[in-house]
This record gives sequence, structure tokens and C-alpha cells, in this order.
Amino acid sequence: MPFSLHQGDALSVLAELPDNCVDSVITDPPYNSGGRTAKERTSRSAKQKYTSVDAGHDLPDFTGENMDQRSYGFWLTQIMTEAHRLTKSGGTALLFTDWRQLPITTDAIQAAGWLWRGVLAWHKPQARPQKGRFTQNCEFIVWASKGAIDGSRNPVYLPGLYSASQPSGKARQHITQKPVSVMRELVQIAPPGGTVLDFTCGSGSTGVAALLEGRDFIGVEKTRHYAEIAAARLTETLQQTLTQDDVTLTS
Ligand SMILES: C[S@@+](CC[C@H](N)C(=O)[O-])C[C@H]1O[C@@H](n2cnc3c(N)ncnc32)[C@H](O)[C@@H]1O
Repeated sequence: MPFSLHQGDALSVLAELPDNCVDSVITDPPYNSGGRTAKERTSRSAKQKYTSVDAGHDLPDFTGENMDQRSYGFWLTQIMTEAHRLTKSGGTALLFTDWRQLPITTDAIQAAGWLWRGVLAWHKPQARPQKGRFTQNCEFIVWASKGAIDGSRNPVYLPGLYSASQPSGKARQHITQKPVSVMRELVQIAPPGGTVLDFTCGSGSTGVAALLEGRDFIGVEKTRHYAEIAAARLTETLQQTLTQDDVTLTS
């Protein structure tokens, strides 16, 4: 089966997976950004943080967005340590984050044993300009490897800057959904036929991209509603790719 999807907590699920079973960990964890006080952290849900009241949709909330800074650092270190065990030597890790959480993310990834390689930028063209300030129109992808990278194993040349808007309207199925076009480029860091892991996969955008690019996928998602959306999107994508293969075979 080109994909497996687990509904549950990432730490418990990853603990059950065997060593060296993935080529790339590509994940978009809750950023736990902002919220300087306990009151601010607990009184605003992820939904209130990431969606505007006038957006006209009713996407359910998701879990894991109310940690204080120290807890987030510990959690990220723990989960990335487990992800390191699951990754083949020379494999890679890509972690989405925002400007506030860049330092804690680069600390955690290194504390977990990864070799920090750099920071990619995801530019969102539709962000609103702010008077007297710089526009907040980028999120970031911290990337790292498990030891040396053998470029001859997967000789790709990938950009450091990605530009695409977050899905909108009916296509928006998760509060913080990432564009499949961006994810399709990112998953190419895993060799063709390799396996990509996303342990906070939300609506499954990483998995959709992996299947479209001929990579296998392991996904974990704790919020049942989003695990169900991911299952539906992955199944639909798999059917699409199989149909395409059939067409190629019979033509
Ligand atoms: C930023 S969203 C991912 C969105 C995804 N990239 C997409 O395009 O749909 C993070 C997801 O992680 C899930 N999550 C939070 N804590 C988790 C945990 N401990 N284990 C597994 N999933 C978790 C949340 O429910 C949320 O859906």
C-alpha cells in the first residue's frame, strides 16, 4: 500500500514504527506561536488564531496549539528524536514554522540529533500589507539531515524559495492547510519510490503531494475530523494516480 494513515498521538504512533523506515520527515506541527501568558495561550483556540471571523467557513479546531515555549521545545525535541530513529542514514527532515518559532525549532532539531542544513521560505502572495511595518508574508521550513547527504542517490536541484497562496474556498479543508503545489516540490527531497513521514499531517497535503510525486507516505493525525479528511484525500489521490498509470499502460 503506498500510504498508511494513523489517527492518534504522534509520540505513541511513532514509538511503534521500526527503525530506518522513512527517507524524509516533512511535517507542519502546530506552531504554538504567540501567546505570551497562560491566559493568552489557553483563551485563544487554533481556530481563533488562524482564521478571520469574516472568512465564511466553519473549519473545526485542532489540538496541540496551546503549549508554553518550554513545553513546545521539549515536545519538538522528543518527537524529532523519535523521527530521527525512523529515518534512514542520509535522510532529511523538513519542519514548517513561523518567524517567532524559528529559534526554538532550529534548537530542537539539533538537540534531537539532526544536522541543521538551512531555512527555506514559503512566500504567501495574498498577505495583507501593514501600515508602517513589513508585511508578514512568509513562513519558513527548517531543514536538516541525518548525517551526510549522498547527492547521487537523488540528484535533484530544489529551490530555497516557494510562492503560493493557502487553499481557499471549497479547497480549504484545514485551518492551516499548506498548498499542494509547494508540498509537491518539497517531497522531491525524498528519492523517487522513497517514503515520506508527516506526523502532524492535518488534512493530508504532504501525503497527497507524496503520492502525486511517486513517493510512499506515512501520516499521523490526532484530531479525528482531520484524520478523516486526510484519509479521503489520500484515497482519492491514490485512485487518481492508479487511473493515470492504467491509462499509461493501456495506451
Ligand atoms: C498545522 S496543522 C497541519 C496542517 C497540514 N499541513 C495540512 O495541510 O492540512 C497541525 C496538525 O497537527 C495535529 N496534531 C497536533 N498535535 C498532534 C499530536 N501530538 N499528534 C498528532 N497530530 C497532532 C493537529 O490536529 C493539526 O491538524
